[in-house]
Amino acid sequence: MHDTLILFGATGDLAQRYLFPSLLHLWRDRLLPPDFRVVAVGRQPMDDDGFRTWLRERHGEAAEDGDLDGLLARVQYRTVDLDDEAAIPNALGVYADRPCVSYLATPPDLFVPAARGLSAAGLLADPSRLVLEKPIGRDLASARAINAALRECLDESRIFRIDHYLGKAPVQNLLALRLGNTLMEAVWQHRWIKSVDILVAETAGVDGREGYYAGYGALRDMVQNHMLQLLALIAMEPPAALDADSIRDEKRKVLCALRPMEPGDVATDAVRGRYRAGVVEGDAVIGFDDRHADPRGPVETFVALQAWIDNWRWAGVPFRLVTGKRLAARTTEVVVSFKPVSHWLFERPRRERARANRLRMQLQPEETIELGLMGSLAASEWGAMELRPMTLDLPVSRSDQRRIAYERLLVDALRGNQTLFVRDDEVEAAWRWIDSVERAWSQAQAPVHDYPAGSWGPAEAAAFMPRTLLKSPRGGDA
Ligand code: BG6
Repeated sequence: MHDTLILFGATGDLAQRYLFPSLLHLWRDRLLPPDFRVVAVGRQPMDDDGFRTWLRERHGEAAEDGDLDGLLARVQYRTVDLDDEAAIPNALGVYADRPCVSYLATPPDLFVPAARGLSAAGLLADPSRLVLEKPIGRDLASARAINAALRECLDESRIFRIDHYLGKAPVQNLLALRLGNTLMEAVWQHRWIKSVDILVAETAGVDGREGYYAGYGALRDMVQNHMLQLLALIAMEPPAALDADSIRDEKRKVLCALRPMEPGDVATDAVRGRYRAGVVEGDAVIGFDDRHADPRGPVETFVALQAWIDNWRWAGVPFRLVTGKRLAARTTEVVVSFKPVSHWLFERPRRERARANRLRMQLQPEETIELGLMGSLAASEWGAMELRPMTLDLPVSRSDQRRIAYERLLVDALRGNQTLFVRDDEVEAAWRWIDSVERAWSQAQAPVHDYPAGSWGPAEAAAFMPRTLLKSPRGGDA
């Protein structure tokens, strides 16, 4: 396990919200190596003590004193201006004494200069590693340019591209459920499955990240990475083994089989939206445009897409991907809807009203698995000819017992396990499809529909929403 972590973007939002809290938990649980050290790197001029005080102010309350002190004693701070080519070798060259993991929690335009500087400083020499946050570029061309430049600095086997959804335990459970059960293996294909819904609904808005978001929108911020990774895990062929490349080979094949979107598909397969002012969980919130008028044109905070995977397993099965900010409730879920039984024998309900089986896996905020089945009323006064829908319900775990996704990913990067990280060709395959959607939108002049914050998105997207949402108390607002 490598014991030096060089963290770029150490004063940024991600580092403060997730990376330092994750390191604290790992430290508390003795999961970091004995000689562990963190070199925090930022633009802001500060010395070691200044940065430790700054961290203490932000994390002091959340941690036991001993744990925080223990970690702080291992943190150093270096001010580096990445615009200056010699800055990294000058400031960080001294850390090349031990194999290290450099983590770029920075915007993508800094990836290449930072990697070149690290390479010049000897910090990417084998067996040192590089971790990159998403997004990798803004489209296929920029992602390719980044990947090519990285390859000049180090081998792909030492590049770790983060998609934090892969570090979430419920996402790994998706794989376990799918690949560890004969029942699933038998039916996991177009012959038995009618459609798959993947919904990532957030109540949070864009607040504070308008600058970044205006250049990306929900399509690039959420679909290109998290949602396509979920889709790939659900749709891939079972890998022969669970090593990193066996899984990543299969995910890439699925992403490559996504049918590019054409302008003529936009009317049926895509809806974009942007929230205006409204009420979310009882609080009045402003609209996206109230804080950000984008001179470059409209940006979506909601997207609903119907994706088609052109291969034998999934021919004709729509994968509906829906994500949005400021929606009625926070939920990430996958709903697999099965086809109706081939011959309906029962009197009631009539065939057309009988409910086909449905598997609903909620990944957050709670982790639950529900299987919708039909059962007989079977009371003494009824015959077994009358059926009703029933739910087999499996609460998997309480969310407060879960680790932050980044804890798992940090440990894997320090250990060198790439399974939960995204390979260059997967990223590029995902961008190829996203670029087709973006092109189709622009050629078809797809409008961005308004929706009130606190609803389930624009009315135009109602047909894309999983039917299971109608069950929830706030469902069907849009
Ligand atoms: C990030 C996006 O990658 O994922 C954010 O940039 C989004 O816009 C976040 O809010 C969602 O992550 P989670 O773990 O809260 O579902």
